[in-house]
Amino acid sequence: MKPPARLESTWARRRGDDKDMSGDPQSTWAAVDALAEERLGVGDAVLDEVTARGTRAGLPAIAVSPCQGKLLHLLARVSGAKRVLEVGTLGGYSTIWLARALPADGKLVTLEIDPHHAQIARENFALAKLDHLVELREGPALKSLGEMERAEVEAFDLVFIDADKPNNARYFEIALRLARPGAIIIVDNVVREGALLDDSGTNPSNEGSRRVLRLMGKTPGLAATLVQTVGVKGYDGFAIAVVGAAK
Ligand code: SAH
Ligand code: DHB
Ligand code: MG
Repeated sequence: MKPPARLESTWARRRGDDKDMSGDPQSTWAAVDALAEERLGVGDAVLDEVTARGTRAGLPAIAVSPCQGKLLHLLARVSGAKRVLEVGTLGGYSTIWLARALPADGKLVTLEIDPHHAQIARENFALAKLDHLVELREGPALKSLGEMERAEVEAFDLVFIDADKPNNARYFEIALRLARPGAIIIVDNVVREGALLDDSGTNPSNEGSRRVLRLMGKTPGLAATLVQTVGVKGYDGFAIAVVGAAK
């Protein structure tokens, strides 16, 4: 099968027989993501429309990439998750990937502080025909999480933490209490081009990520890893933990 023109030209550049080859790692990572999306059929018209609507509405382009979204989807699927909690909705791109893994009687609760983001996200859930599975709670995540704890909501099978990074460790601590034994907790953006190594204590987002890793390491009965990622979104990584498991 002949590769699509876009990919063919990319390969030509990689072989070095194209004088325009920039050779910078970022363009290679983005091109490999494009190839994976095309070859593996990652994403579809609805997800593309959600991304386009976000751009039109002026939302920042910080959603997970298609391949990262598919990873979240697959993790939810292989674990048989029925109840998913997401901290940080934006336009609901990652939410849709996760909600698509749920059974008909599943539920996803997603937390968003920004009313504009929340409004766009709600429209997107309707567009994706997932609004019956998704509950968006508008307001500061710490407030919603506290309310959920006090209401003793049914435990979650998977938690995706992707909001304001300085609060990462606080979100993780509460997620531990809201998650069932065996649940998966995933924290986005913990590497940030290696900023994770910076021990100067000057960047609150980075401190949030460093704190969450320390907390994961010392939480009894938690099995955790960190997966560094490159791709269309640059160089970053996920921390992934299973609650109440043997290390
Ligand atoms: N998970 C999304 C991206 C989320 S971006 C995706 O991958 O598609 C981070 C979001 O967290 C933003 O929409 C931001 O408004 C929201 N956020 C920031 N601080 C928050 C807080 N304290 N409580 C809830 N949401 C917050
Ligand atoms: C930012 C936030 C994210 O959740 C992300 O995936 C990338 C960037 C940010 O706030 O810059
Ligand atoms: Mg993120």
